[in-house]
Amino acid sequence: MDILVRPRRLRDNMAIRKMVRETRIDPSSLIYPLFVIDGENIQEEIPTMPGQFRYSVDQMAYELERLEKAGVTQVMLFGIPAEKDEVGSQAYAEDGIVQRALREAKRQFPNLYYITDVCMCEYTSHGHCGLLHDQKVDNDSTLEKLAQIAVSHVQAGADMVAPSDMMDGRILAMRTALDKNGYQDIPIMSYAVKYASAFYGPFRDAAGSTPSFGDRKGYQMDYHNRREGLKEAALDLQEGADILMVKPALSYLDVLSDVKKETCVPVAAYSVSGEYAMVKAAAKAGFVDEDSIVCEMAVSTYRAGADIYLTYYAKELAGFMKEGRIG
Ligand code: PBG
Repeated sequence: MDILVRPRRLRDNMAIRKMVRETRIDPSSLIYPLFVIDGENIQEEIPTMPGQFRYSVDQMAYELERLEKAGVTQVMLFGIPAEKDEVGSQAYAEDGIVQRALREAKRQFPNLYYITDVCMCEYTSHGHCGLLHDQKVDNDSTLEKLAQIAVSHVQAGADMVAPSDMMDGRILAMRTALDKNGYQDIPIMSYAVKYASAFYGPFRDAAGSTPSFGDRKGYQMDYHNRREGLKEAALDLQEGADILMVKPALSYLDVLSDVKKETCVPVAAYSVSGEYAMVKAAAKAGFVDEDSIVCEMAVSTYRAGADIYLTYYAKELAGFMKEGRIG
């Protein structure tokens, strides 16, 4: 047989397979999303996300310790307040849940890096991501609130802010407010390319943030659109975003790949709650091998262009990377 090129030569054993890997990953690229809730002595499992918990501030340290041990150094905080109101005032309260969690986390685990999700939906009684005006989310009045939330997170110790609301102009509003308060060195990771997605279902159960009427299609993106992802990415860059995120991850790898090719900033991908829940459910039923699926989903996201990966499986993945199973 005169087959000259035999791709199998480079697959013959683990050593060569590792040597020729095109995708190299490292735990320093992982971010773990963590839910903190008002109250005390709470560590409750989220029914739609088995293995994920809501922690009160006094219990959060146990999880932070596990993260640090696993080698995951970046945390994204989500707050679940006891009281919600029309204008989401707990989102920017000095003693709000995220603000208190940040102060405590920074005190106990100063070596971790803290990012906060900046949005209003967990804090508003109606569950929408901004202020309402005639049953519609009003863009421009919401900007002021979002900027106020970002500043209050940074005042409480956030190392980076990550707006997820999808209002137009929020990056500029936030950048301006941060700079005015002396925080010009705090980076913004924008949820720039965020689609209106059923994959957020379990998260909304976790955070009690399902809109009480309507949906988020008036501000989050339509999943029929790919090129529009580049429009959102370009706008956020012009407005001063430092890192761009694509969300969800699994069904949006085409968009992720575009954003990576067309921009010159770090790109993050968020493997959201529904992706996690699907894997958990299928694994529990014995239909798939959980660890293998988790590795494959992660590597394919990096392969498509992610520099940073947000995932509820961050601890497990850090382990797989350290063992050399992936990476
Ligand atoms: C807040 C926010 C959401 C998620 C991250 N930030 C929910 C939403 O937009 O409805 C989803 C995260 C996940 O599903 O894991 N706006």
